[in-house]
Amino acid sequence: MEPETGELYRRFATREARGNSASYQELSERCAEDVELMGLVSALPAPKRQPNLLFGAVRFLGGPVGDGYPAFRAWVLARWEDVRAAMLRRRTQTNEPGRCASLLPLLAALPQPLALIEVGASAGLCLYPDRYRYRYDGRPEFGPGDGPATLECATSGPVPFPARLPEVVWRAGVDLNPLDVRDEEDVRWLEALVWPEQTARLERLRGAVRIARADPPELVRGDLNETVRELVARAPEGATPVVFHSAVLSYLPPEAREEFAATMRTLPGHWISNESPVILPEVLRRLPRPAPADLAVFALALDEQPVAIAAPHGQWLDWFGA
Ligand SMILES: C[S@@+](CC[C@H](N)C(=O)[O-])C[C@H]1O[C@@H](n2cnc3c(N)ncnc32)[C@H](O)[C@@H]1O
Repeated sequence: MEPETGELYRRFATREARGNSASYQELSERCAEDVELMGLVSALPAPKRQPNLLFGAVRFLGGPVGDGYPAFRAWVLARWEDVRAAMLRRRTQTNEPGRCASLLPLLAALPQPLALIEVGASAGLCLYPDRYRYRYDGRPEFGPGDGPATLECATSGPVPFPARLPEVVWRAGVDLNPLDVRDEEDVRWLEALVWPEQTARLERLRGAVRIARADPPELVRGDLNETVRELVARAPEGATPVVFHSAVLSYLPPEAREEFAATMRTLPGHWISNESPVILPEVLRRLPRPAPADLAVFALALDEQPVAIAAPHGQWLDWFGA
């Protein structure tokens, strides 16, 4: 096995699963020490070795992830060819509408109305920030009256709580492999990517899928660097184009990220990034204080100016002072 594969699982256990999913923490810790299983995973191409992909594939195929490591291990070894095929066919395309709670204070403060363009959109569930309900801390819940998805977010720091929802007049996205909210298999894959103990997250995902199904997003298949200019050019006149992305640029090599940043600096409108703090060098350089090193977090930035540290699924938001 390649030692870095074990390290990938060890890091996932401590930085991502700990405190969020006891079963994934146990599985990733035990996988990291399992020479035979890590040997199989190491034989996959590097982008296909992620713990989230392995565990998602096992759940998608109906395998046990909550019955302890011996049951998981036995099942994976017995069904390895199926697991392998699912890992090769699918991608970690976790689509987390909860991230709209991080984006909302920025979106609501921009000149309205907005034309939203999401790069790396997965199924496009983050393209509906105006259709979800929100609850920040103990503040009154707000949003469309009968919205089936409520996003809860704990905050610290001087968050500019939005006085209104953004007015979205156009929305579109691009993804290497857009998922379709109308396709049962795609939705089952999205559900398999939600961690087992996170039942509230699963309910939220299902609510968001209902919202998106009522008015499916326009999603283009392609690479973000090749399509972002064209999408921004299609924004209706009179609307502010806003290109945004979360949990996407880490999948690109550094040169492609730099190309994207260079393009964004030339395009009209605004650019909101919600990515690991080390992903965009200019955002990292401008952080007013170091991001926590011991857990996975995102740096939220408007036009490369960091404004907050955000939890990866939008569950909390720590806004910077002036
Ligand atoms: C982890 S998902 C995040 C989805 C969504 N942004 C969210 O926050 O819920 C990352 C998505 O980025 C897409 N992606 C990765 N590289 C891309 C590229 N070069 N161009 C377009 N999409 C890309 C993947 O296919 C995947 O759907």
